[in-house]
Amino acid sequence: MISDFPSPVIFAHRGASAYAPENTLAAFELAVKQGAPAIEFDVKLTCDRQVIIIHDQTLDRTTNGTGQVVKHPFAALRELDAGVWKSAEFRGEKIPLLEEVFETVGRKVLLNIELTNYATPFDALVPEVAALIKKHNIQQQVIFSSFYFSNLLAAQRNLPEVPRGLLFETGIDAWHQKLASRFMNLQAEHPYTTDVTSQLVQRVHAAKRRVHVWTVNDPQDMRRLRACGADGIFTDDPLLAIENFK
Ligand code: G3P
Ligand code: MG
Repeated sequence: MISDFPSPVIFAHRGASAYAPENTLAAFELAVKQGAPAIEFDVKLTCDRQVIIIHDQTLDRTTNGTGQVVKHPFAALRELDAGVWKSAEFRGEKIPLLEEVFETVGRKVLLNIELTNYATPFDALVPEVAALIKKHNIQQQVIFSSFYFSNLLAAQRNLPEVPRGLLFETGIDAWHQKLASRFMNLQAEHPYTTDVTSQLVQRVHAAKRRVHVWTVNDPQDMRRLRACGADGIFTDDPLLAIENFK
């Protein structure tokens, strides 16, 4: 239930990604250790329908592989190193499965699962994620987010009890999202940091929705957003946020 989510809440963005390689178990476990009450991560499907955690559509930036994520089977992706690009200390970190996140930190923090099949929006990501959430009976810990309202509509169909937050692009790019969001059953809106004002927060609260802002790494911004009444932020640096967004 969204009403059980704390306010303010800090989502460690891709885990404690300022300190550890984003979207790895190391980053999620560090976020828990640093005291973040919630983590955010990006899910995608492999070509053999496994749900994995990785941000980019390609492997090149955060692993020693190359090419489109969705073209690879899980076994091949599992061979890759997803840590050494950040620092040698993290050599050997792997691309995690969603289930591994549930099993390691899933009971310790809230989980913002961003549905990021932006390159393959008609794939089976949403039903596969919903099935895993049900299997692990972890509905109470989860909020879905996505820039695509089609994903959130699918999430609502598959798992109506799990709250949904629409991510907004910044500025003019978000006009279609703003329009659609009026007619959608959402429990949260996730605007970009520079778009957030007290007026925006009041408007969203009046619609009985929470405001979770991405991605906030500057302490002054954190304090400003809290003063505006934002309920949560996504940040790479949970330690900084614990000091400044309270
Ligand atoms: O959920 C906030 C943020 O993660 C959205 O953008 O590209 O970092 O997934 P991105
Ligand atoms: Mg994300």
